[in-house]
Amino acid sequence: MRPFVTVNCAMTADGKIASVLRKQMRISSPEDLARVKEMRKNSDAILVGIGTVLSDDPHLTVKGLTPEENPLRIVIDGRGRLPEISRVLDDLAKTLIVTCEDCSKTWKGAEVLRIGKNKVDLSGLMKNLYERGIRTLMVEGGGEIISSFFENNLVDRYCVFVGSMIIGGRTAPTPADGDGFTQPLDLKLVDHKVLGNGILLTYEPVNDL
Ligand SMILES: NC(=O)c1ccc[n+]([C@@H]2O[C@H](COP(=O)([O-])OP(=O)(O)OC[C@H]3O[C@@H](n4cnc5c(N)ncnc54)[C@H](OP(=O)(O)O)[C@@H]3O)[C@@H](O)[C@H]2O)c1
Repeated sequence: MRPFVTVNCAMTADGKIASVLRKQMRISSPEDLARVKEMRKNSDAILVGIGTVLSDDPHLTVKGLTPEENPLRIVIDGRGRLPEISRVLDDLAKTLIVTCEDCSKTWKGAEVLRIGKNKVDLSGLMKNLYERGIRTLMVEGGGEIISSFFENNLVDRYCVFVGSMIIGGRTAPTPADGDGFTQPLDLKLVDHKVLGNGILLTYEPVNDL
């Protein structure tokens, strides 16, 4: 058993989730930001990769919720690169840092789970999260982590907001980076909604992704 996994991200009209500088940029409309806030509120946990934390230093919390009410923050950090001063280590919510088994790093105020050899074992992590009561997980990026979730057949729903802008750049990150797949992973479009100056597309996997 594993949590229900929703991948959520925002990309530009040319398919980029950040610029070539890999820094956070506003792609979502105000309407989409409100939707993301609701989705976070309704999730037991929010997960990002270490690349996202190093680029954007997000809080991963919902304004107005207490530390007990906020979803668990999960950072996938195989080699223990998370800086001690990262915002995800503040006391606004609980944080779980997931490293590979050979990493011995610890962080004040955060729980550490060590699972997997060269990369964090995402399937093993999902089982562990389910056992600790996590039923709904929101994966917020970045491109490497989302790609790994798809590769491991761990995505139940994929929500992508397409903002009305072009950013370009051949090395700019996209929603699913990684090594790429030799065969396309087919999706079913289950919903589309205009949210301000952009559109939210919601997909589900076809068969067993
Ligand atoms: N627009 C949006 O919605 C949005 C949302 C989030 C992020 N972003 C953007 O995305 C970019 C960051 O994405 P990113 O791809 O560089 O980093 P990422 O996906 O956040 O993190 C990837 C890193 O996680 C670690 N990792 C450990 N186990 C892994 C596994 N099983 N699978 C994949 N990765 C694993 C690896 O680092 P180690 O080898 O060190 O463990 C890997 O390099 C930034 O530019 C950020 O602004 C955009």
